[in-house]
Amino acid sequence: MGEKTWALSLFFIFACLSNVYGNVHSYDHQLRKLQAFTAEIASRDSISPFPSPSPTRFSPSPSSPSVITVTPSPKVYHVTSYGADPTGKLDSTQAILQAISDALEGPSNGFLMQGISNLGGAQINLEGGNYLISQPLQFPIVSRGNLMIHGGTLKASDDFPRDGYLLDLSTSSSNGPEFLFEFITLRDLLLDANFRGGGIQVINSLRTSIDNCYITHFTTNGIIAKGGHETYIRNSFLGQHITAGGDKGERNFSGTAINLAGNDNSVTDVVIFSAEIGVIVSGQANLLSGIHCYNKATGFGGTGIYLKLPGLTQTRIVDSYLDYTGIVAEDPVQLTISNTFFLGDGFVKLKSINGVVNGVNIVDNMFSGSNKGIDIVQLDQSNGPFKTIEQVVVDRNNVKGMNLKGTIGSGVVEGNGTSWTMDFNPILVFPNLIKHVQYTFFPSGNVFVNHALRNISNNKVIVESNVQVPARVLVTVDQGK
Ligand SMILES: *[C@@H]1O[C@H](CO)[C@@H](O)[C@H](O)[C@H]1NC(C)=O
Ligand SMILES: *[C@@H]1O[C@H](CO)[C@@H](O)[C@H](O)[C@H]1NC(C)=O
Ligand SMILES: *[C@@H]1O[C@H](CO)[C@@H](O)[C@H](O)[C@H]1NC(C)=O
Repeated sequence: MGEKTWALSLFFIFACLSNVYGNVHSYDHQLRKLQAFTAEIASRDSISPFPSPSPTRFSPSPSSPSVITVTPSPKVYHVTSYGADPTGKLDSTQAILQAISDALEGPSNGFLMQGISNLGGAQINLEGGNYLISQPLQFPIVSRGNLMIHGGTLKASDDFPRDGYLLDLSTSSSNGPEFLFEFITLRDLLLDANFRGGGIQVINSLRTSIDNCYITHFTTNGIIAKGGHETYIRNSFLGQHITAGGDKGERNFSGTAINLAGNDNSVTDVVIFSAEIGVIVSGQANLLSGIHCYNKATGFGGTGIYLKLPGLTQTRIVDSYLDYTGIVAEDPVQLTISNTFFLGDGFVKLKSINGVVNGVNIVDNMFSGSNKGIDIVQLDQSNGPFKTIEQVVVDRNNVKGMNLKGTIGSGVVEGNGTSWTMDFNPILVFPNLIKHVQYTFFPSGNVFVNHALRNISNNKVIVESNVQVPARVLVTVDQGK
């Protein structure tokens, strides 16, 4: 039996009981309780129809029929009960801070990580309102976990501090605990930074969940996660300017949508529709999956995903969509880019810092361009050439209107003579690097000749025979092994 059907049956039980009692007032009362209860079971968001200044708790009244067992709901703090103005006209900073403070001071249920009180799933409900905020909503108390803020809009005021974040999981104290918060959920929120700062800051926290948020008008970062681990950003939309692409002001887009300055975070199913940089990563072991970046075209100086962790990258970018923008990786060491679609001449750039590239797979991607001769993988060696190149595989990508590049190349050269040369420069990513060659010498006619590999420098493979002979030479080279 589905929840709704079940709720409907309960409704009839109530209806019958109230008929028996013949008390209209009691019926209304029961109906309201029932509505509250069905709202509770129908939705995790449990929007109570009765805002109250104290946390709403639903408990069965003594007159409830004994067949129904109701578990108490989580604590819900309604911000309007604290005087927040849902019309967005009056400053709601203090009211919402008070609700946050009360929630953080609320009863706890043991601990999560050592020292982090479990708030049991308390909720700060924005009640679908639009609130004007003049100071960062910095959590005033640390060492708390299992709390959700959800369901409304926060907008920075015209005097909001330019280095502030609307929602700020950090502490001003210089000697905070190792982890400030654990399992804080921010969901179903629209954050409008009003070109005065950023959306969400998460510092030294564990298991933070940012889900179904729309973050706009940031000038610094839409979201920054620094230290801690496991900030999970899901199903969200970020853009400095509200646009659907082809924006006239695109050249002027600035700011970064998501800044991951910590380890073990994940960004999944996220659209970044404007910003100078879509995602910048400077911590290890982050996963980016299902990201659609059309933030600022490469041609205008934008970058979709910037991996700024030279020497130890440990990043996976999969199943994503780089739309007129690309990926830059500084000295990548352990990087996978796969099953990603690059549109509009988007490409991957490996940028040398100390000349190291090690353990890189750029495989099974699709690239589409406009026949401008753009290579799908490019090197930026302006700081010096790549010198250590190990375990790099760029292969099995497909292209339309762009130049295919890879670390593996193969081809056939045919001729009547004593020397066969195949130039792999048009295909190979790295200059003057062939680590492995395999060739097949296939003379025509009934002849046996001596032949040998003579030279592989400058990505040119030369095979020679001792006598003149018409032959086909099939060659495969690899830069990665
Ligand atoms: C971009 O910024 C420049 C310099 O601030 C300004 O002159 C120009 O009008 C802006 N362009 C658009 C389309 O907003
Ligand atoms: C290959 O070149 C030699 C010498 O020029 C010539 O004698 C021979 O007929 C050629 N073979 C073929 C198949 O063209
Ligand atoms: C291979 O060819 C290069 C020119 O491309 C030349 O400088 C080098 O000496 C050759 N090496 C050998 C072993 O012949």
